[in-house]
Amino acid sequence: MTTLPDSIASTISREHAQHHASSEQASDQATTISPSLSKKKRHPVSKRHLKDRWKSFLSQDAEGNLLVEGVSVKELDAKFGAPMYVLVERELRDRLRTFRNAFPYPKFRPQFACKVNSNISIIKIAKEEGFELDASSVGEIILGLLADYEPHQITFTNLYKTYQDIAFAAMIGVQSITTDSMEELQKIAMVGENLDIRIRIFLRINPLIKLGQYSTLKQQYGIPITEAKKAIEFAVSHPHIELIGLHFHGRYITNPQVYCVAADKLLKLAAHATELGANIQYLDLGGGFPTNDNSQVRYGRSYNLQKAGVMIVEKLQKLLQKYNLPEPTLIFEPGKYIVANAMIGLVKVVSSKKMGKENLVITNGSVYNMIADRFVSNCQYEVLPANKLSKPITTKYSVFGSTCDCIDVMAKNRWFPKLEEGDLLSIMDCGAYSVVFASNFNSLKRVPIILAKENGTAKLIRRRDRYAEMFAPELDVLKVADPNELKYFYNLHRINFEKIWGERLTPEVREKKLQKPLQAILSHIQRTREQQKDSLL
Ligand SMILES: Cc1ncc(COP(=O)(O)O)c(C=O)c1O
Repeated sequence: MTTLPDSIASTISREHAQHHASSEQASDQATTISPSLSKKKRHPVSKRHLKDRWKSFLSQDAEGNLLVEGVSVKELDAKFGAPMYVLVERELRDRLRTFRNAFPYPKFRPQFACKVNSNISIIKIAKEEGFELDASSVGEIILGLLADYEPHQITFTNLYKTYQDIAFAAMIGVQSITTDSMEELQKIAMVGENLDIRIRIFLRINPLIKLGQYSTLKQQYGIPITEAKKAIEFAVSHPHIELIGLHFHGRYITNPQVYCVAADKLLKLAAHATELGANIQYLDLGGGFPTNDNSQVRYGRSYNLQKAGVMIVEKLQKLLQKYNLPEPTLIFEPGKYIVANAMIGLVKVVSSKKMGKENLVITNGSVYNMIADRFVSNCQYEVLPANKLSKPITTKYSVFGSTCDCIDVMAKNRWFPKLEEGDLLSIMDCGAYSVVFASNFNSLKRVPIILAKENGTAKLIRRRDRYAEMFAPELDVLKVADPNELKYFYNLHRINFEKIWGERLTPEVREKKLQKPLQAILSHIQRTREQQKDSLL
């Protein structure tokens, strides 16, 4: 392969990328449907499948097809093509509102932890519902800005930041940078000195809590409480640092008392910092709230958030009196509590087999590109027979994804009606750590997200991946050679079989939609073969 000078190669590929993006985006924007069935035609989902938490947005039609906000999964499949995710807007908004209203504290400013699901439309909805943003990287800060958050509505909290990360966050003016270690504190001081600015920080503390089964002793995050005073003293005395808050985040907190214990430890430190002259305006107690599925197999048993909210706020008020502190702004950063129950994965059965005594179905989705949290937290998802809700349940199946890996098991040994090719399955409650963990394993595309709205319309909020962007990091460094070769590469990843989803592959469809790029690829292959033959002669 010959190499073009960098400047020419990058100009060509930019032009190709732009052309490619604009022609495909035009058709993406048109993908909205409004085929919702009228309320009269929506029937309750049969009791053996329905869980309370889905009642507000799931129903079924007369044939037993699942309806999400009145939109039939069959229509969604016909329009957008399973595999896909369906995000239920009303459920998302309800969860945000419930959380916001659960803490009767005047200076309460919840943040959405967007690492859990960083889709821009979701982040925007969180903002509309009065949430600020917990960002864990410069990338997430940029997403927040794209979703119209003001910099002062974003905090930057993670385990490790480069000098450049710190400078970027400080210069755009985020609410604060949450500092995870003594080393990071010194780094922030250095950036502040170099830029001659005062950088607002929270100190993230690991309070080394042990409460029943719950413990933060083995977590790697934050400054251990045994060293917290040293960090506070450094921060308070440094002219380029402004210590404005203390932070704690613990994972999977199923006992809300943990927040009270953490608040006690942090407020004691706040009193110390105040004595040294700091103005502690924020107390940030992180996320960790369970989802709404009441099952221990997923992220831990849930509890009544309203009662917990009242209990935590009462305790906080008492602690403020005990330590003689003014009311700080209270921050929580829920993630999975907000989105987990609001999203459904929709996959299609492509094959059903019997292996020994076990019945298997293979789907066109995959744990890898849809629900990779199964690998990370070993969580289980409930799966519904989305086009056979009224059929008798007769057969136990294991449900597999379509990759070449035997651990690609979406669900094991579940009861279903008899399943066959073309059936749709819905994977419930998969909004958290799904899209963000998804990979392109087997060079599969990650799947689109459709927003189902309360008025029964459905809208694309993330399109399916394209080969162009999946392969770009490698093609870019190959410095693709002459224009013919470039054309070949672009034709290869322009082939978009999803475009003919749902259509029968008739000669006419082939002629109209596939012939041109296929012809270009085939003639390139032919040319290359001839060139190779010539060079051998
Ligand atoms: C700093 C921080 N805040 C909030 C969250 C969200 O946690 P959850 O989804 O458990 O609410 C996380 C998750 O890892 C986190 O690291």
